[in-house]
Amino acid sequence: MPTPMPTPIILDVDTGYDDAVAMLIAAGHPEIELLGVTTVAGNAPLDVTTDNTLRTLDAAGYTNIPVIAGAHRPLVRELGGSTDAQSQHFRFSKKRAATPGYAVDWLVEMIMASDGEIVLVPLAPLTNIALALYKEPAIVEKVKKVVLMGGAVHGGNMTPTAEFNIWIDPEAARIVWQAGWPITMVGLDVTSRALIPPDDVAQVKALATDRARITGELLDFCVQREVVGWGKPGVQIFDACAVAAVVDPGMLTTHHCFVDVETTGTLTAGMTVCDLEGLTEKPANCHVGLDIDYSRFFRVMMEGLEG
Ligand code: BDR
Ligand code: CA
Repeated sequence: MPTPMPTPIILDVDTGYDDAVAMLIAAGHPEIELLGVTTVAGNAPLDVTTDNTLRTLDAAGYTNIPVIAGAHRPLVRELGGSTDAQSQHFRFSKKRAATPGYAVDWLVEMIMASDGEIVLVPLAPLTNIALALYKEPAIVEKVKKVVLMGGAVHGGNMTPTAEFNIWIDPEAARIVWQAGWPITMVGLDVTSRALIPPDDVAQVKALATDRARITGELLDFCVQREVVGWGKPGVQIFDACAVAAVVDPGMLTTHHCFVDVETTGTLTAGMTVCDLEGLTEKPANCHVGLDIDYSRFFRVMMEGLEG
């Protein structure tokens, strides 16, 4: 069967081990054209997330993919913190500095100059994306769709009701969901059903590419922490699920409904409120991910990492 035309995508990241794995899958997958990567503060301060992004791409040989730094803090809140391994400097070797310029300007220029085929893939707090919407609202019509990692129908990982990317900058997230463009939400409900077991990590490590070797190192670290340390059956590589769903949207089970973001709740700030039952009678603005076919997810991951 002929390979379909690659889908042009832009990643917005706060690298982060799972952002790194997602980037390497995107950079290497034959059905994706990775136009560039914008960075934002989130898992770590902006200088760290930008540095980790460059180190990941450069060590895998992708020095030609532009990396542009963006917002150094959320719209109105202080940068809350990830204190775990996500905020460490990577040790992979870096070969260049970030592309000069500001991610928000670059996003607007790239999208407005495009033919309407770009899929925007935010894997981080949505600050850059909200700022781009404020700078040029017409990007809403020009982007084919937004496939983001963030939120949850049920639960959270920072508070009982909030997922990290949304919790860091709820105001930005609200702007993104209210923009009126097609959104697919790959939230915790999905990513927690795509745990990669150690046997599949071994399959990744058996591949003979630089990006598989780097991914193997990142996954090994996660296995030690999550499988050995926490007793989970596999590792949760959140952001990779969103990239995989760009290649094969059918791996997701979704529900099309209205979603809004809680910004004022004293217990619930950062909650993605998903109106699955249509109780608000508001028009649907999001394809909410409910489940994922793990074998299809892992197949896309291997396709992105193999030679
Ligand atoms: C999200 O938060 C970050 O720590 C991860 O990179 C992912 O984007 C998961 O909640
Ligand atoms: Ca991330």
